[in-house]
Amino acid sequence: MADDGALTPFPGFKRGRIDDEIVNPELYASEEIHDVYTRLRREDPLHWTQPEGFRPFWSVTKQADILEIERQHPIFINSARTYLSPIAGEEWIKSMTGDTHLFRTLVDLDDPIHMKLRALTQGWFMPPNLRKLEERIAGLAKEHVDHMQSLGSECDFVKEVALWYPLRVINSILGIPRSDEKFIMKMTQEIFGPGDPDVAAESSNVSEDGASMTSDQGVDLLQTAQELFAYFGAITADRRANPKDDLASIIANGKIDGAPIGEREAMSYYIIVATAGHDTTSSTASGGLLQLMRQPDQLMKLKNDLSLLPNAVEEMIRWVTPVKHFMRTATKDYDLRGKTIRKGDGLALFYWSGNRDEEVFDQPFEFRVDRDVKKQVAFGHGVHLCLGMHLARMEIRALFAELLPRLKSIELAGEPKNTRANFVSGLKSLPVRFEFT
Ligand code: HEM
Repeated sequence: MADDGALTPFPGFKRGRIDDEIVNPELYASEEIHDVYTRLRREDPLHWTQPEGFRPFWSVTKQADILEIERQHPIFINSARTYLSPIAGEEWIKSMTGDTHLFRTLVDLDDPIHMKLRALTQGWFMPPNLRKLEERIAGLAKEHVDHMQSLGSECDFVKEVALWYPLRVINSILGIPRSDEKFIMKMTQEIFGPGDPDVAAESSNVSEDGASMTSDQGVDLLQTAQELFAYFGAITADRRANPKDDLASIIANGKIDGAPIGEREAMSYYIIVATAGHDTTSSTASGGLLQLMRQPDQLMKLKNDLSLLPNAVEEMIRWVTPVKHFMRTATKDYDLRGKTIRKGDGLALFYWSGNRDEEVFDQPFEFRVDRDVKKQVAFGHGVHLCLGMHLARMEIRALFAELLPRLKSIELAGEPKNTRANFVSGLKSLPVRFEFT
């Protein structure tokens, strides 16, 4: 549908039209995407966006609108379109699966099936159950900080600590042995990083603009999906035959309306836990550390008063917002900000923009460990609110609770680098120089 509030191209902005900017992975890597978001929040917060090579959609950049759309979940559904993908990628998935999705994970589903599947593990992800894991997670945090210390005085924090620690937490709760962790690491990165040449599989043939999927990439992704299906299919069979005290056993033996959970649903469940629980948390831990190094006053404040840690972690989550957007699709006409969203229109909820909204946060581009950060939206809202949010907070807290008291000093030792991705993104390299006490 057409919108009369079309924006003129960004003056002085070298890369192109604002509609193309918002999906451009380069701008997520350079963080210049904030210039685009800030301008949209100010001039056209609900912007009809028509990037080349993508189906059009509404860009939702104000936090209040993100929350309103998420609250109206029967009107704005997930299953039609989950995240921004070029038309070529969407068509390829359809030709392969006959569906709009490669997997059928919780974020791809709507009620009633979504709530029934979510209910299988919801209790497991709640704080009373997670408290039982505190010791195990603290042990893993210590192991990774010990590893960092063993490296001497310099390391790449992403590659040595932040990527492995959350992966090992997730694998430990899913019951995946350490011997398989390299495989799981590779799979997660291939699913979330297909636009980034450093992150994608070595065999991938990434397009130059990083935004459109080449046929080689498509084949790689299908191969990744098949490998994951085979791997988790074996886990389902094993946990059905020999249930254990792990999350995989709860999923494998889950029942929906009295019948065992379907194969594709079970596998999609493992996949969302393994993937959603990994890059998000590692990006937040490394992005949080980077900001503490850039603002030594904030680092000192936190080191001197560790009771600020839960709040500081929430601020890190707001700051990094590792999940940059999720999509919704309107099932009927809906009026918002004086415009009419038509039935069938897609909407991209830009969480990073919602977390820099000047109407919600005082000086949103300042990182403050003691900021009032209760209103951050990095975990989404409503029925799809991140299932792993308590676990994510606990993990990041445990890592900094171990690291900060042991550090005498820490500083940047090179240029940090972000992934090129407009869906889930964050640091892929963070060289640091440090001294332990
Ligand atoms: C959903 C963010 C960590 C599992 C989501 C959503 C967001 C998000 C934005 C969609 C919410 C919506 O549509 O309203 C994050 C962030 C994390 C994080 C920022 C870390 C800082 C985790 C972890 C796990 C996890 C550690 C699991 C181990 C899930 C699952 C869903 C989800 C299963 C789907 C929920 C549903 O559709 O019902 N997450 N996540 N996430 N997340 Fe997370």
